[in-house]
Amino acid sequence: MDLHLKGKIALVTGASSGIGRESARTLAAEGAKLVLVARTLTRLQAVADEIARDFGVETEVFSCDLTEVDAPERAVATALARFARIDVAVCSAGASGNGIFWEIPDAVWESSFRLKFMGTVRTMRALLAPMRAQKAGRIVVIAGNLGRQPLPRGLPSAFVNAALLAVVKGAADEVAAEGVFINAVSPGLTRTPRFEERVAAQVQSTGKSAEQIEQQMTLAVPSGRVSEVDEVARTVAWLASSAAGHITGTNVTIDGGHTKGVT
Ligand SMILES: NC(=O)c1ccc[n+]([C@@H]2O[C@H](COP(=O)([O-])OP(=O)(O)OC[C@H]3O[C@@H](n4cnc5c(N)ncnc54)[C@H](OP(=O)(O)O)[C@@H]3O)[C@@H](O)[C@H]2O)c1
Repeated sequence: MDLHLKGKIALVTGASSGIGRESARTLAAEGAKLVLVARTLTRLQAVADEIARDFGVETEVFSCDLTEVDAPERAVATALARFARIDVAVCSAGASGNGIFWEIPDAVWESSFRLKFMGTVRTMRALLAPMRAQKAGRIVVIAGNLGRQPLPRGLPSAFVNAALLAVVKGAADEVAAEGVFINAVSPGLTRTPRFEERVAAQVQSTGKSAEQIEQQMTLAVPSGRVSEVDEVARTVAWLASSAAGHITGTNVTIDGGHTKGVT
């Protein structure tokens, strides 16, 4: 399917790794020009170089800490200075600590809120000015399936994902008549570097093999496996494109059936 993304301008946060990186690559494969945002410039530049080499599209990198109040606005301003418009944005910067509820320190809750929630809210707000002015735009927010199905050991992720789903729906309704469409993607366990690190840590602490750990982690997943990162990125690129048509204010869960209930 042609996603009609050729020549479109896409801003991706969290673009140097995992779901953000793969989403950027998938958008580039469809011909989009990219603005890649994350903190570590060397990793970001390596992804930009790799994308330019593999897909021959123009790229811009912007290194910033999205927990800083003005960073999202500066990222959007950089994209506009280079390309004069932003057609598509993917908000994938985020990380949350996990643990037993009563052992999780305030700092973990606060950092999850500062980066994933406020970083995304401020990025969305900065994007809406140019997108509303051009009467077109598509934003995809990477939330997570814990937002709808909290697990006891993942509550700092769960609360922030639930909050983002609420904001996606409300903000989408606010701007839909202006041609700006906003949706969320909620992955379950996905094979990203962060996931591999989690498995490696459990291999260390339990002496089990990576296969055994992964099997244990996916016992409650009907498909019996984690998602591959390209499976998430393809859905992100589709939602970011006109192929997704009239879809706005919704959430697409990609978790092999892990979330219980009918959506
Ligand atoms: N992987 C999963 O299983 C899974 C499941 C459900 C939901 N999710 C969600 O999907 C999103 C992406 O996860 P992932 O696994 O792809 O993560 P990842 O591989 O760790 O990538 C995170 C990206 O965010 C950037 N980042 C982190 N802190 C930042 C900050 N303060 N300012 C700017 N950029 C920052 C990182 O680059 P720098 O460190 O260089 O800044 C990196 O590019 C997250 O919101 C996560 O909660 C993931």
